[in-house]
Amino acid sequence: MKMLKEKIAAEGIVLNENVLKVDSFLNHQIDPVLMAAIGKEFALLFKAEKITKILTLESSGIAPSVMAGLELGVPVVFARKRKSLTLTEELYTADVYSFTKKESNTIAVSMKHLSKEDHVLIIDDFLANGQAALGLCRIAEGSGAKVAGIGIVIEKAFQEGGELLRNSGYRVESLAEISSLAGGSAVFKEEAKI
Ligand code: G4P
Repeated sequence: MKMLKEKIAAEGIVLNENVLKVDSFLNHQIDPVLMAAIGKEFALLFKAEKITKILTLESSGIAPSVMAGLELGVPVVFARKRKSLTLTEELYTADVYSFTKKESNTIAVSMKHLSKEDHVLIIDDFLANGQAALGLCRIAEGSGAKVAGIGIVIEKAFQEGGELLRNSGYRVESLAEISSLAGGSAVFKEEAKI
């Protein structure tokens, strides 16, 4: 997605060969115009999949998910990472280990918001090792829902998450695929020329 790649090139800060900081438009401050375009792009990519619900993870997955939900006309559920005062119902949970942060989180979604009739589109901001997306797949599938696809804003293609998810049979669509951060700037993977 050209607009997203230009934004990454202009404002992304390479912290080290593994980490890209995008706090000016995705992870801290949010660019609503870019998020709206991202929502349209996800909706276009997954429009044939009869999506009934979007599932994401707090916090940075929420903005692109809401814009995609608006385009597709479906609700957005976000898995919680922290205990919530109001989350009193029965929960679907999954343990997610972050290799980046070296910590494990139990993520949770109320059973009220997912059912076996759902065709779920999973959306997240970053794909690194794929553990968050896999946890969301386990939660969706635990409810009997079908995972119709996974939409990622920025995939770090040099880490193993993309391969792991695609080899597990999931359709993964990433709007910007970064093949390397090693030279101090983001290098994008060539898009297939049709
Ligand atoms: P994984 O889920 O693909 O295995 O990724 P990992 O554990 O490595 O990532 C943990 C957190 O770090 C996630 O955010 C993820 O989005 C973020 N992350 C991973 N790589 C990068 C990167 O290169 N740049 C940035 N900016 N973030 C990265 P989180 O803890 O869920 O944070 P948030 O959603 O609350 O913002």
